[in-house]
Amino acid sequence: MPALTVPLIAPSILSADAARFGEEIKAVDEQGADWIHLDVMDGHFVPNITFGPVIVKALRPYSKLCFDVHLMIEPVDLFIEPFVKAGADQILFHIEAGPHAHRTLQTIKSFGIKAGIVLCPATPAQAISELLDMVDTILIMTVNPGFGGQKFISSQLPKIKQIRQMADATGRDIRVSVDGGITKETAPLVIKAGADVLVAGTSVYGQQDYRQAMNALRGTDKK
Ligand code: DX5
Ligand code: ZN
Repeated sequence: MPALTVPLIAPSILSADAARFGEEIKAVDEQGADWIHLDVMDGHFVPNITFGPVIVKALRPYSKLCFDVHLMIEPVDLFIEPFVKAGADQILFHIEAGPHAHRTLQTIKSFGIKAGIVLCPATPAQAISELLDMVDTILIMTVNPGFGGQKFISSQLPKIKQIRQMADATGRDIRVSVDGGITKETAPLVIKAGADVLVAGTSVYGQQDYRQAMNALRGTDKK
């Protein structure tokens, strides 16, 4: 199925005030966010550490929006059930995190939640070609994972286009998401390439007016 005409905005709380994560989630929810993006880092798969299921569970009451949990951890499978129990609506994991991505997708789906696969900038689109019948979301990293506030890697644009074509060819309803360096300048480029979920940390939480910031990314502020 084709891309959504208006992209979904998934603010990443990595750039929010960490001492007030709950209120920061409530704020973007009230101001029109579509999903809440939660970045889980283990200090092993990526050179940074954030939070685990205990914090996700504590944040769950602050919004009914889709909790889009981006696991930057290795191994993955051991931690799926704890994140499901914590309230994840969708779990995304990296294709680079291990040899058994198919099994990981089976495990996530067995809990009745949505599953997504993530590709680092160095990973070609073909790496996920055998998994398209199982994924609800494909997330293309447009920075190297680990930190907010990095510069958009424009060499990923053809890959976004290629993945949109691969997703459309399945006839399934698959979201194509992008994460890293998404600003009001880069958003039109990724939308044109076929993305229909924009993950954004700095360009939402780094702004005064969250609603205006999200509409600027959607492109609906000009209409
Ligand atoms: C990076 C994370 C991103 C991060 C994006 O590893 O996956 O979700 O928060 O931050 P910005 O939007 O500031 O590039
Ligand atoms: Zn992320």
